[in-house]
Amino acid sequence: MTQIKRIGVLTSGGDSPGMNAAIRAVVRTGMFYDLEIFGIRRGYEGLISGDYFQMNRKSVSNIIQRGGTMLKTARSEEFKTVEGRKKAHEQLLKQGIEGLVVIGGNGTFIGAEAFVSETNFPVIGMPGTIDNDLVGTDFTIGYDTAINTAMEAIDKIRDTAESHARLFIVEVMGRDSGLIALRTGMGAGAEVVLVPDTSSDMDALFYRLEYGRKDKSARIVIVAEGEEPGAAVEIGRLVKEKFPNYDTRVSVLGHIQRGGHPTCMDRVLASRLGVAAVERLLAGHSNEMVGLVHGEVAYTSLEKAVKHHVTINEQFKKIVEMLSL
Ligand code: F6P
Repeated sequence: MTQIKRIGVLTSGGDSPGMNAAIRAVVRTGMFYDLEIFGIRRGYEGLISGDYFQMNRKSVSNIIQRGGTMLKTARSEEFKTVEGRKKAHEQLLKQGIEGLVVIGGNGTFIGAEAFVSETNFPVIGMPGTIDNDLVGTDFTIGYDTAINTAMEAIDKIRDTAESHARLFIVEVMGRDSGLIALRTGMGAGAEVVLVPDTSSDMDALFYRLEYGRKDKSARIVIVAEGEEPGAAVEIGRLVKEKFPNYDTRVSVLGHIQRGGHPTCMDRVLASRLGVAAVERLLAGHSNEMVGLVHGEVAYTSLEKAVKHHVTINEQFKKIVEMLSL
């Protein structure tokens, strides 16, 4: 065990449902071990400017069920610079903070990794993003809620698709991972899932529209947004051009996928990982992300968590297509 007595916690990058449950777990675990806990507002922005406040058991009551993040969040440009990270380090030392838990995704951990290598300050990461695109955890906090939100929205779209015999192209979030699209596609009984930069997906879609069953009433195609939102609009244009006989509509689900009450799975994940993050800091570790691998708590270097690309399970795509005969 280390002598750490005062730790900080922040959320950074895109908010995700379950971040509040994660903050609660960190604060309550800290209290359990008699630590002083400081909340840091607006992610790395607040870390640099010194926007810190002391938290206690009550500061995190009645938040486990809420979406968003009570600590607010930001994508900090300043923290991408050496000077920004130096300022953040000075603030932490000034406030007497000896360890930090950062909750976020890819960008958050890239920043944390640089920070640790420059300052040797103890940092443990918790995976909080709807994208599920980090190596070292089966699921990220927020992913389960996002896929359920997307699936429910698509169920509703299906009502219209069935009633009007329409083809719907639905875009879901996921910057460069397509993992929201894959699971949502299977759960919503989609026809095809299109992951960006995979041109064979477009061929598969065109093939189905050309030669597949013509007597289907509803057709649902899921598109992962990729680098730029709006990919579905372009795909919709191509489909309309090539298949004018289909009554085609495009729907971009957008940020509804990031909000709302976290599912039980996300709350449990956040709670388990929050305990693990604080205990890991106290045990003297740093520069790691806590995650769940095959249901058990696991630790992965921040470098590995962000650098290794999460691969798309081709079997998932096949299953979606097989089952939508
Ligand atoms: O990383 C989470 C995410 O929701 C991605 O799926 C999406 O590409 C991105 O954030 C959008 O970010 P924002 O709207 O906050 O700029």
